[in-house]
Amino acid sequence: MKKVETIHWDGGADGTLWLIDQTLLPTEYTQIPFSDGNVEGVWEAIHSLRVRGAPAIGIAAAYGVVIGLQSVLEEMDMEKFFHRFAEVTDYLASSRPTAVNLFWALDRMKDVAAQVRKLMEITSSFHPREVMNRLLAEAIAIHEEDREICRSIGKYGAELLPDGAGVLTHCNAGGLATADYGTALATFFWATEHGKKLHIYADETRPLLQGARLTAWELQQHGIPVTLICDNMAAQVMREGKIQAVVVGADRITANGDTANKIGTYSAACLAHLHGIPFYVAAPKSTFDLTLATGDQIPIEQRKPEEVTHGFGRQTAPDGIEVYNPAFDVTPAKYIAGIITEKGVISPVTKENIRKMLED
Ligand code: MRU
Repeated sequence: MKKVETIHWDGGADGTLWLIDQTLLPTEYTQIPFSDGNVEGVWEAIHSLRVRGAPAIGIAAAYGVVIGLQSVLEEMDMEKFFHRFAEVTDYLASSRPTAVNLFWALDRMKDVAAQVRKLMEITSSFHPREVMNRLLAEAIAIHEEDREICRSIGKYGAELLPDGAGVLTHCNAGGLATADYGTALATFFWATEHGKKLHIYADETRPLLQGARLTAWELQQHGIPVTLICDNMAAQVMREGKIQAVVVGADRITANGDTANKIGTYSAACLAHLHGIPFYVAAPKSTFDLTLATGDQIPIEQRKPEEVTHGFGRQTAPDGIEVYNPAFDVTPAKYIAGIITEKGVISPVTKENIRKMLED
């Protein structure tokens, strides 16, 4: 099995961020370096899905802040340093709108900067390098915590999956979408590592095929039986009795449990509901956005028409055709049997149960 390192940091504050270029998978495994203040490169990598998946976007953005500040590492004027900090965090926040983990990670970096500013009121002896070390330490903490979180999600989620079950998943919520191990896929990894047999059905996930290119690849690497289906085959596969549970990831979950995830997730939830199959969402606490009451308020990313008309370089629709290409949809909480977090499973999915779980 290939040792997959979705995100890697090399060195100190003037070090290098390495990201797997996920747009090239499954045929090419390439890691791209970002250093010397190249925050534009990190922004582009997030925007064009070289690194993608809510937790991984957050981790990459946290390291991206450090990259963006490398150009002012020797700046002695702290005001200029903090001005650049605000510029870099605002810029990275504009890379993608839906996954709340991006803003959550940037907020953690902002908290570190705010703490330093407070300390500067008492002592003015801060050097940018010292602040950068603190920021890098926070990015590393976000990264490391995610590894633990994913394992915990895997453990709680695995208990919900019956031995011998067929399980449908959509998009990629695996190691490639997190520090490693994943959220939805973590439940499959944990269950099979602890003796259960599962057969996974992976929706290919139009238009960018994260299911076919990434999930199918990851599960194959782990030796977990997986069958790839086109998105529009899910109903038939359920009707044939092959699916006993659906597990997906999430990009943002609102206070009432409505969940944004990759476009097509809502269809899978409706189908699961119709067939009496439990539909689970696996996500860390950092994916919850309690500032939003319902899913109607989640900003949905709209992407280029070419992703639909010219998928992977071949024109498949007439010139000039009108296209609608939302990257995410919202599954209403009423279709979700449980939300699997690192603290346990929220079920039934109600505002009260969510609040209770997140407070603990
Ligand atoms: O557009 P993407 O590939 O970033 O979308 C990813 C998803 O929708 C994932 O399911 C979600 O981010 C959860 S990742 C653990």
